[in-house]
Amino acid sequence: MSNAKFDGYAAQYDSWFINNENVFLSELKLLKSALDLTDGGRMLSIGCGSGLFEEQLRTQYGINVTDGVEPSEDMATIAKRRGMSVQIATAETAQLEENSYDVIYFNGSSSYIADLKLAYGNVLTALKPGGSLILLDVPKESAYGLLYLLAAARGSYDGLEDVAPADSYPIELARSAYWHTTPEKSAVLTDELGLHDLQYRQTLSTAPIYSNDFVEEPREGFDRGGYVAIIARK
Ligand SMILES: C[S@@+](CC[C@H](N)C(=O)[O-])C[C@H]1O[C@@H](n2cnc3c(N)ncnc32)[C@H](O)[C@@H]1O
Repeated sequence: MSNAKFDGYAAQYDSWFINNENVFLSELKLLKSALDLTDGGRMLSIGCGSGLFEEQLRTQYGINVTDGVEPSEDMATIAKRRGMSVQIATAETAQLEENSYDVIYFNGSSSYIADLKLAYGNVLTALKPGGSLILLDVPKESAYGLLYLLAAARGSYDGLEDVAPADSYPIELARSAYWHTTPEKSAVLTDELGLHDLQYRQTLSTAPIYSNDFVEEPREGFDRGGYVAIIARK
């Protein structure tokens, strides 16, 4: 069951972002720039984790996302403390009111979902016609994706110290992921679920070992980012 993946890692997950503050701020800017491409309105975060991004969206940009879906009780407990209202469920099983959200986003959670069509299809019922679905993730084909695939195959970052960030993403979380490419996710959205008008924004475009050296402004496209946003219309 996918909730087991992040149970027990909640504190470690947050402290990883605190130790990699510039990476966090670059990703936060990407989320903000993706939300700017939507018409705003009522928003839902799928796999909201500890609500760290939502807290900073509120304090730094005045954007309020209070509704979340999250399978890990450990993560959800922290998100609730941060003011979110969280349904404990996966994207595949969440019970959501039809046509009730203007924007639904998956920030980092698609990487823990095997069947994307099932997960996106379930939450799409809750998206209003004309609303936006946003997927933000580490693409499988990016330098970060390849690093995590390599470390997972080796079982650790041993031997990768001179190419991996000093405080690397927890190996257990890299190992339990299902990495997807950006074209793979795009094809699910357009060909299988009928979404359209896809746009792309990206950040973390340096080699991973340099990505915490500065805060990066998001740019268009998906060909070099270690973190990519796909923005699609229903
Ligand atoms: C990389 S974390 C991202 C958390 C948060 N959105 C953030 O960016 O800090 C991935 C999250 O997806 C959640 N997750 C795992 N499987 C899921 C699923 N099937 N449906 C929804 N969320 C899932 C995990 O519990 C975890 O909180």
